[in-house]
Amino acid sequence: MDLRTLIRDIPDYPKEGILFFDITPLLGDPDGFRRAVDLLAERFADSGATKIVAAEARGFIFGAALAYKMGLGFVPVRKPGKLPYKTVSVSYDLEYGSDTLCMHEDALLRDEKVLVIDDLLATGGTLSGVIDLVEHFGADIVGIGVVIELEFLNGKEQLRSYGYESILQIA
Ligand code: PRP
Repeated sequence: MDLRTLIRDIPDYPKEGILFFDITPLLGDPDGFRRAVDLLAERFADSGATKIVAAEARGFIFGAALAYKMGLGFVPVRKPGKLPYKTVSVSYDLEYGSDTLCMHEDALLRDEKVLVIDDLLATGGTLSGVIDLVEHFGADIVGIGVVIELEFLNGKEQLRSYGYESILQIA
C-alpha cells in the first residue's frame, strides 16, 4: 500500500506559499490508517517505552491509536488554557509563526521512558518544544516517530540522537 496516495497536497494553505499535506484521506481510509499505526508500532516495538507523548491536535490521532496498540499510557501536550491542572509550558517556532505548548506538571515521572509521536515533521519546531517539555521532567526519550517527514526542511537533523523514525518521506 502506497500511503503517499492517501496524503492530499493543498497549495497556499494556511497561508500563500505554503504547501499543506492533508492527512484526512489517510485517516478516512481504514486500511491506510491502520497501516500507518502498525508501521509506527513495528518501529518502536523494542523501545521499552512506557508512555506516549503527543501534541494536539493531529499528534493525538496517531499518538492515542499507537498507545492503545502498544499498551502504553498517553500524555497530551496542549495549547495554553486547555489543561485543567497545574502546567509547565514552553514556547517554540513553527513553520509559519510561533506557539506555546503545555503539559500537566505531574504528567511524567523522572526516568520514565517516553515515545514522542506526531503526524508530521516540518521544521521540527513542534517536536523540539515537546522534547524540551519532556526533558523538563527528567524523563528519558526512547524514540520519536512521525508518519510524514518533509525531508526538504531538514527537521530531522535535530532529532537524530533520539531514535527518530518516519514512515513516509516527502522530498
Ligand atoms: C502541525 C503538525 C505538527 C507540526 C509540524 O501542527 O501536526 O505538529 O505542525 O510542523 P513543525 O515541524 O514545523 O513544527 P499544528 O501546529 O499545525 O497544529 P494542529 O495539529 O493542531 O493542526
